[in-house]
Amino acid sequence: AAVEKGNYRHFMQKEIFEQPTVVAQTLSSYLRREDVSVALPQFDFDLSAIRRLTIVACGTSYYAGLVAKYWFEKFARVPVDIDVASEFRYRDPVLEEGGLALFISQSGETADTLAALRHCKENGQIIAVVVNVPTSSMAREADLLLPTHAGPEIGVASTKAFTCQLAVLAALAAHMAVKKGRLTREEEREVVTHLLEAPAALNEALNHDDDIAAMAPLFSQTRDVLYLGRGQDYPLALEGALKLKEISYIHAEGYASGEMKHGPIALIDDDVPVVVIAPSGPLFEKTVSNMEEVRARGGKVVLISDAAGIKQAGEGCLATIEMPVVHPLIAPLVYAIPVQLLAYHVAVVKGTDVDQPRNLAKSVTVE
Ligand code: G6P
Repeated sequence: AAVEKGNYRHFMQKEIFEQPTVVAQTLSSYLRREDVSVALPQFDFDLSAIRRLTIVACGTSYYAGLVAKYWFEKFARVPVDIDVASEFRYRDPVLEEGGLALFISQSGETADTLAALRHCKENGQIIAVVVNVPTSSMAREADLLLPTHAGPEIGVASTKAFTCQLAVLAALAAHMAVKKGRLTREEEREVVTHLLEAPAALNEALNHDDDIAAMAPLFSQTRDVLYLGRGQDYPLALEGALKLKEISYIHAEGYASGEMKHGPIALIDDDVPVVVIAPSGPLFEKTVSNMEEVRARGGKVVLISDAAGIKQAGEGCLATIEMPVVHPLIAPLVYAIPVQLLAYHVAVVKGTDVDQPRNLAKSVTVE
C-alpha cells in the first residue's frame, strides 16, 4: 500500500513525529524485557574477538556512525576507524584479517557504501550492516544483519532512519561491551533500562514543536548558521547543519565547539546565528566558554540543553530549547529532534520543497 501523509503537511514532518514509535519498534527487536538484556540476531563469529571496527557510510548515516564511534570506544574499548564511503576505498585502508566492518545505510543501495562493503569483504573483513530496507543489496551481503524498523522513509532528508540507526548502534555497542567483559550484567541492565526510556524522551522532545516553529522566522533571512557540539554531540552539530542545508538551502556548518576558535569564529557577527547542542555534563563548562566567545562578538545563540544547562547558561541567549534529562546513550536520539524540527520549520517558512529538495536524491546509486 502507498504510504500516505495523513494529517501531516509533509512526509518529513510525519516521519519526525513517528520517531517515538519506530524507535520503540526497533529497540523491541534488540532488547529483551524479560531479563533486561541486549539480544542480537543470529550470527556465527565471535564478537568478543573483534579487535578493530571499521565504520563506513554516507550522509546522515555517516553521522550516526560518528556518534556510535564514541560508544564503541567508550563502552566496548574497541578502536574505531570511520570514514565516508567515497573516501574510504580510495585511501587503501589498512584492514587486518578478521576485523569487523560496519556499514550503515537507510536504503542499503548507496553505491559508494556498497562498493566499500565489497572492498572490505574482499579484504577479509566480517560484514555487519545496519539497514532499513531488509531486501536491499547490503542486507543480502551481510554476515550480521541489523535491521532498523523505521518503515519506509519518503522524505529525501533522513530523520527517523537516523534515530533508529542510533538505537541499533547503541544496542550493538552495549552488547559488544558485554561480550568483551567491559560491561557487567548489572551495568547492562542499567543501559537497557535507559534505552527503553528513549521513546518517552523523544515524545517530550517533540512537545517543543510549537516553540521551534515560532523561532523559525528568525532563521529564514540568514545566509549562514553555525552549529556547535562537543564529544558525541559534535556529530549532531554536523547533522543539524546538514539538515538545514538540505531542505532550507541556508548555508550551515557543524563544528566541534573547541575548534571554532581556529576558524569559524571569524564568521561570527549579529547575522550568523549559532546553535549550540550541549546537554549538561562534564563537557558543559567548556562549551559554555565557547558560547561566551560567540556572544562577545555579537553572535546570537540558540542553546539546546536540559533544565540545568539552561539555568546555568541560558541567560542572554536568543532562544533556548529544553530537552529532558537523559542518559548519554540516548541523548543523541533525543537531541536529534529539535535539530530536525528547526530545519523543517525554517524550510516551511522559506517555502522550499521539503520532501523533494532540489538536486538531492533519496538514494544515490551512482558513485
Ligand atoms: C542521500 C540522502 C541522505 C542519506 C544519504 C545516505 O544523500 O539524501 O538523506 O543520508 O543518501 O543514504 P543511505 O541510504 O545510504 O543511508
